[in-house]
Formats: sequence, C-alpha cells, structure tokens
Amino acid sequence: MLFDSHAHLNSEKYANDLDEVVKRIEEASLSYVMDVGFDLESSVLAVGHAQKYPWCYAAVGCHPHDAKSMDENTMTMFKGLAKKPKVMAIGEIGLDYFYDRSEREEQRYWFRRQIQLALELKLPIIIHDRDAHGDVLSILKEEGAFATKVLMHCYSGSKEQAEQYVKLGATLSVAGPVTFKNAHKLVEVVQAISIEHLLVETDAPYLTPEPFRGKRNEPVFVKYTAEKLAEIKGILYEEVATKTAENAKRFFGIE
Ligand code: NI
Repeated sequence: MLFDSHAHLNSEKYANDLDEVVKRIEEASLSYVMDVGFDLESSVLAVGHAQKYPWCYAAVGCHPHDAKSMDENTMTMFKGLAKKPKVMAIGEIGLDYFYDRSEREEQRYWFRRQIQLALELKLPIIIHDRDAHGDVLSILKEEGAFATKVLMHCYSGSKEQAEQYVKLGATLSVAGPVTFKNAHKLVEVVQAISIEHLLVETDAPYLTPEPFRGKRNEPVFVKYTAEKLAEIKGILYEEVATKTAENAKRFFGIE
C-alpha cells in the first residue's frame, strides 16, 4: 500500500497525457492519490478526477498565490464543492512569502476564511507554508485550527518547529526534496519525528525526487521519497509505505 498524499493531477502540465500518467499509477498499484486544488478551476477538476478514478480523492481550496482571485462568490462555490463525495480536505491553503504572488494581507485574509470553512464542515486542512512559518503558526492558533486535523504539506521547517507541530496534533508530509543532496534539515526532521506523524507526497508535477530531479514529477515517483524515509529511519521500505498510507487514510478519514 502506498499513498501519494499530495499531487496536482489537475495541473495543466498533465493536460496532454493524463491518461498515460493514470495508466502508470494503476500499473504501479499506487493505492491512493490525493488530488489537491489550488484555485477554483483546479478544485473542480480534482473533484471530477475523484469521481472518475476509484483510487483518487480530492481536496478543494485556494493556494496563497491565487488569493487575489478570491471573493465571496468563489468562497460559496468552494463550500459547495467541499460537500461533494470523496472531497476529504480543504487545501491547499496557507501563506507564501517567497513568491508573494498575492498581497500578504490578502493571503492572510483568505487563509483565515478557508480555515473557518474547514472548521464549519469538520474537514482536515492541507497547509502550504513557504517562508511564512511564524504567521502560519499564529494564524492556525488564533483560528483554533487544531480543533480539526492539520497537515503541513511539503514540510520545510526546522526540527524544533516540527516537534512543536506534532505536539499540537499536526501531521507532516514529506516530499521529494528529502532525496536531494542538500536535504540536511529535512533529514533531521525525519529522524526526529515518529513515522506515526508522517505522510509521503510528490506535489507532482513539482519537486521531482532523485533520480528524476529536473523532469516533470508524477505520483508514481512517491516511492523514491518513501525509500529515502526508510533509509533515514533504518526501517524497511514496506513498513514506510504501509504506515504512511495508513496514516494518510486515517488523516483524511478514508475507510
Ligand atoms: Ni501543491
């Protein structure tokens, strides 16, 4: 069993060959893929994929990059989408102070609103945090987000902060960068945090792990991240695959 807890099959990067990507997922017996929305259109696509493929589930939400596209109307549409079958989370939402593609004030406002939506609908949230560690944590606390399940997607913070998140009840998801040569900080995180609190993901089409770094990423490559976790923790690959998949199923509430 293997669960890619974060991919964007809804990305335009798969517009021309999604069937091939799907075929490779099915041939590799990748058990589950969470297709994660980043704006309204991609969230609609994710919900469609979840309806079409038995192994696919969806998260709906607006990425901080696209905060500038948000308004009340769109928020209402997200709420409708979130109630559809196989929609298991609100995400990805959060703050991105690295690219700053939307005004920070706007990012923070729609981040809060989407946390509130998740709490209202009792859905888990998937967090994007790039160079905004302080503000993400204070907003999560202020909004009482830890009353629902919180997933720190593509975790990139320090070991100390990882431990703090786990104490608050959050789950951390590890992506392809853990396979990179300069991944010292992330390796420390994986060493320090019990496997019970970890998931694996691709964030495909981005963040392709070694040995395919530089190519377009896709969900089947999640196994390289799981292999790296096994190596770092000194346990069997099968154990990492099974445990992280069980964690993901429990996190998202998949039977
Ligand atoms: Ni993503």
